[in-house]
Amino acid sequence: MEFGNKVAIVTGGASGIGLATVEILAAGGARVVLSDWDEAAGTRETARLQQAGREVAYIRADVSNSADVQNLVAATVSKYGRLDILINNAGYIIAKDVVAMQEDEWDKVLDINAKGVFLGCHFAIPAMLKHGGGAIVNVASISGLVGMPGQSGYCASKGAVVQLTKQVAVDFAGKGIRCNAVCPGSVETRVLTDYLDSSGDAARARQEIVANHPIGRTGTAAEVAEVIAFLCSDKAGFVHGAMFSVDGGYVAR
Ligand code: NAI
Repeated sequence: MEFGNKVAIVTGGASGIGLATVEILAAGGARVVLSDWDEAAGTRETARLQQAGREVAYIRADVSNSADVQNLVAATVSKYGRLDILINNAGYIIAKDVVAMQEDEWDKVLDINAKGVFLGCHFAIPAMLKHGGGAIVNVASISGLVGMPGQSGYCASKGAVVQLTKQVAVDFAGKGIRCNAVCPGSVETRVLTDYLDSSGDAARARQEIVANHPIGRTGTAAEVAEVIAFLCSDKAGFVHGAMFSVDGGYVAR
């Protein structure tokens, strides 16, 4: 099987793109730690996948909390003996421009989206290197590549993910760690619903979003997860430091 015996962590794995990624990796034979700060959803989805015969375990972690992420990596290695794949997927949006955005809101978005990726790489890479290396995929966004109306903290945080992905790729090139990012366009998950709800006119915001994607629709979580799975598979052995747009042509305009 494509991921036979590999051990993977997916943060934010209880919902949306993360959950779709857990499903693909586990179906491919990986032993997957589904991690999320939402314990109810995490244990529910883990039980559902276990019943379907998948090797999935739930470990709670808030990706912005250093002790949680350290424990996540240690508990994974303790349970499965190694770590081969890290998907830094957990993310959060508060959609406000730089004047409306409050300092505590800025800190929360940056802590989850940017520091969370730093902490994941910080604790996972030493564990991966003990067994010859591994693959990291960070979930950035088109908001990390271009400016978006009313997304000051979110764009800044995803820009940090884009740049950190390149930096990790440069620092660990040749040491057995591959690091890439996906940059999704608008995908039908809770992050998109939260964004639409906060826009004041969800129907109009949705129309604008669809119009800005040349392909003429939003994406699905599974469409992004397929690309994540490719990037962390051995098929992508020469893909390193790449920002992989999965956006229906959004940034190609
Ligand atoms: P989602 O809301 O369905 O899933 C996000 C998951 O992350 C949830 O299960 C949530 O509980 C978890 N999470 C949030 N903060 C966390 C924290 N501090 N610690 C641990 N878990 C946490 O949304 P979606 O869309 O699947 O989000 C996944 C990633 O995709 C995020 O990084 C998001 O920014 C990114 N993204 C989403 C896009 C979209 O249109 N849906 C577009 C571009 C990027």
